Amino acid sequence: MTTSRAGPPEYAIQAKGLVKVYGQGRTRVAALKGIDLQVPPGCVWAIVGPSGSGKTTLLTLLGLVTEPTGGQLVLAGRDIYGGRRPDLARLRREATGFIFQSPNLIPFLSAQENVLLSLSLKGTRGEKAQTRVNELLEYLEVSERGGLYPNQLSGGEQQRIAIARALANNPSVILADEPTASLDTDRALTVMRLLRKVSRENGTTVLVVTHDYRLMGVVDRVIEMVDGQIVAEKPAEAMRARETLAAADRGGLDSV
Ligand SMILES: Nc1ncnc2c1ncn2[C@@H]1O[C@H](COP(=O)(O)OP(=O)(O)OP(=O)(O)O)[C@@H](O)[C@H]1O
Ligand SMILES: [Mg+2]
Repeated sequence: MTTSRAGPPEYAIQAKGLVKVYGQGRTRVAALKGIDLQVPPGCVWAIVGPSGSGKTTLLTLLGLVTEPTGGQLVLAGRDIYGGRRPDLARLRREATGFIFQSPNLIPFLSAQENVLLSLSLKGTRGEKAQTRVNELLEYLEVSERGGLYPNQLSGGEQQRIAIARALANNPSVILADEPTASLDTDRALTVMRLLRKVSRENGTTVLVVTHDYRLMGVVDRVIEMVDGQIVAEKPAEAMRARETLAAADRGGLDSV
């Protein structure tokens, strides 16, 4: 006898044998060669790996920006490419938030207008949208900066506005591609701690691509990619220990 499953899905993201091939013939690149991944809701995971190992490709697949060449992707219990195809653009708008290395704010809109735009794309407008923007800017501790334009904000402030924009529609998954690469250590840690706070308080799953081992203290788990494959998946603790040893070897323990 089979029983039907009840309650929320166990995993926010489930990938099985996910493959991505770009181009054909001589330009063919197998960017992902069979990714298996199970990420529970409400956690913060880092993705590390050398340049070209497929980190960004994996994020764009999980964020429904690109389609896999093969394999299975299940988001919040929903098999995306398995049955009747859902409205991908809508699902992307509603379920995922992206944060990139550079904040990519629209320069001729104020900080709060940048966030409002993201809400209005999902149909939230007027007073309700304004209340949500105020709430987000307060949460990210940039309330006083809302009326300013991106070029009047510091890098860290711009990145916080970009986070507010990614959070605007309460996504269940946040995908961040080197969000702290252009920030100094203090600001990078502040941004990461904010993401962790969001994750803990709202049950949001956060995946962060980073080269930055300073951030490992803030994440729960680390996935290591090499040449289109996941070669290790460990608690962040193990990664920190490894980096600490490497830094000690270099004689630069203070830098960790
Ligand atoms: N749109 C594309 N068309 C063709 N090849 C691509 C495309 N995007 C990525 N690739 C290739 O796929 C492989 C993986 O690229 P990807 O951008 O995912 O790596 P990455 O791990 O994010 O690297 P980096 O750390 O440099 O950002 C690389 O060999 C890259 O050249
Ligand atoms: Mg990349």
